[in-house]
Amino acid sequence: MSRVSVLRENKIDPHYFDTYASLMTAGNGYMGVRAGFEEDYPEQTRGMFVAGVYNKAQGQVSSDLVNLPDVTRFELEIENVNFSMHRGKILDFQRVFDLETGEINRELIWEHPNGKRFGLCFKRFVSKKKLHRVYAKIEITSLSGDADVRIRTGIDGQQTNFGTQHLVERSLRVFSETWMQGDYVTTQSGHDVAVTSMISAPGSFTAKNRQLLVTVNQKLAENEPFTLEKVSVIATSLETENPAEFGLGDIREAKGYEESLAESRDVWQEFWQDYRVEVTSESAFDQLALDFSAYHLEAMTPSHDERFSVGAKGLTGEGYKGHVFWDTEIFIAPFHLYNHPEKVRKLLRYRYLHLEQARKKAEKNGYQGALFPWESAFSGEEETPEFAAINVRTGKRQKVASALAEHHIVADIAHAVVNYYEASQDELFMEHDGLQMLQDTARFWLSRAVLKDGKYVILDVIGPDEYTEHVDNNAYTNYLAHENVYQTLRFMAKYGQKHTAFYDLCEAFLRKIYLPQPDASKLIPQDDTFLGKPEIDLSEYKARQGSQAILLDYSRAEVNEMQILKQADVVMLLYLLPNLFSEDIVGRNLDYYEEHTIHDSSLSKAIHAIVANRVGQQEKAYRFFEEACRIDLEAAPGGSDEGLHAASLGAIWLSTIFGFGGVAISDGSLHLNPRLPAGWKRLAFSFVWHGERLEIVLEQDTIRVTKQTTAPIEIHVFGEKHRMTTGLEI
Ligand code: BGC
Repeated sequence: MSRVSVLRENKIDPHYFDTYASLMTAGNGYMGVRAGFEEDYPEQTRGMFVAGVYNKAQGQVSSDLVNLPDVTRFELEIENVNFSMHRGKILDFQRVFDLETGEINRELIWEHPNGKRFGLCFKRFVSKKKLHRVYAKIEITSLSGDADVRIRTGIDGQQTNFGTQHLVERSLRVFSETWMQGDYVTTQSGHDVAVTSMISAPGSFTAKNRQLLVTVNQKLAENEPFTLEKVSVIATSLETENPAEFGLGDIREAKGYEESLAESRDVWQEFWQDYRVEVTSESAFDQLALDFSAYHLEAMTPSHDERFSVGAKGLTGEGYKGHVFWDTEIFIAPFHLYNHPEKVRKLLRYRYLHLEQARKKAEKNGYQGALFPWESAFSGEEETPEFAAINVRTGKRQKVASALAEHHIVADIAHAVVNYYEASQDELFMEHDGLQMLQDTARFWLSRAVLKDGKYVILDVIGPDEYTEHVDNNAYTNYLAHENVYQTLRFMAKYGQKHTAFYDLCEAFLRKIYLPQPDASKLIPQDDTFLGKPEIDLSEYKARQGSQAILLDYSRAEVNEMQILKQADVVMLLYLLPNLFSEDIVGRNLDYYEEHTIHDSSLSKAIHAIVANRVGQQEKAYRFFEEACRIDLEAAPGGSDEGLHAASLGAIWLSTIFGFGGVAISDGSLHLNPRLPAGWKRLAFSFVWHGERLEIVLEQDTIRVTKQTTAPIEIHVFGEKHRMTTGLEI
């Protein structure tokens, strides 16, 4: 295996402070710590999040993933001047984020305003071995004679979520000259959060204004580095009865920085062993993007606990309030499914555990079965904010309609349940939890559809394209609902539940559900009215994609009345259910709808890449793929400030494996139809299928699959069926 990539920040540019704080977030699924610089800058937002710790502030309708007290800040007073990269002179600067381990290393040479020079090195990582621990190390070297330095660090409870304070202090304590602990509780959800820190040199403490700080004074001799280490343990009442006690116990066992990093690296190595996708490409950027997405997808997935799922920004920022969307099941879960399916079982269990809330939501809206919330957090109740940001032109707030009508999430979750079963063959899960989820979601569609002129139609919905609201018969929704009910029947039959009234109702639904067909010009109508709406030239908005610039020129209501897509919709359908239409129809719809799509959502590009690749538009596919990779890695200032685009990271993996790698699952069998981009020599990845890890190596004109056992596995390569025992080479 080649070395996993590193991400570099070579320039000090405050416009990008928050971008890099997101890009270099270190995490381990339990927590995520944004890469704020150790010293404060107004341009940067610190952030530390623990999966599942949400709170609803007074007067708010939805919860925030709580930004926890900070442990990353180190204030350096060198020769009576506070160190800042905006003060004195920076003679050398580099920050490197090692994706192999999640360690950040910033090195600089700073010239003090008094002319003396200092070498500074700041390192930090979140342990993958000990999930509660964050380690930091700073090293200061005076390069121009003796010097005085004062270092202040500690636990800072002044953190907020965009200004909202979610925690109150319970106690602040100091246990020796090096140990300290802050114990906090969330104001509404009542989670107890204890933060315990220990530093490697004695200091003096102060506790004031929700900050518990320790100050270390040090005399530096020329060229003799002074090192200070800090380890912090975060624990919450979600996993332990007494987080404060847990913190003290855990920190007592903590080893030094380097030894702990080595331990953590070993666990990351195991991850890379299984999950690494290696590409030999003309552009080194492709490998970086794959490593970047793999690192972050792992770092944001709470595999340790089935009560939590992955937020739209993972654990990398406050954006989307840490809420869970369809992003998880459709865009993120596959990355784990074909590597470690048990992680997806947990993600699905998160939904299963909240069936009751989903049933209540259905009932409240006059439906049966389970209507999963569009946005979900800890409680499993609907968390979508009532209003979006104020439209600065009209001064009015726009209602967010997704909670009321973006019902495709129900079928998306059902789709993920079936995918999980196909890949894992986990009967135990399927026969109970899986089937229950399928039946509840199918029941929802049966009650959601209405009979009109002998057909079941699904009225007043929002499809994946959120620029088109309150429409009838969104093709994506109808087809996915059909699939949902069809799969429910399949599994009811499999598990001996055929002779029930519900089974008959499902059959009747399948017979009568209206499935929009391609029209005379081969277009699948996105919904009943879409194709009759006026079109406008979107090039100006496409050039600024991701920024929702169109909403500055047009109101949402106006956008709704034109053929404008925010993101893949019919194309999303073509991606998820690849066997519905001929290649010719797929190509025609891809071209048409792409022209009308701004790609203002990060969920769009990579999906287009997959579908383009399937219809042989390889150049376009590669362009879409590269653009998808740039969403975070080359974000414009502001684009990724509030966190990374988790679904887009998942889609980078999807477009590599399901796009260029040509993997497809169809009717429960595994297919391989690779089409590598012209600039790729080799693509290698592993793929777990029916409990067996396949190693797949693709070159422009060879396919090699190896496996570990001789148990036969069926695989279709370019449509031809192979029964593979040890592997195959074509
Ligand atoms: C997209 C949704 C997505 C959400 C969270 C929105 O902008 O339109 O499809 O689920 O972001 O990523």
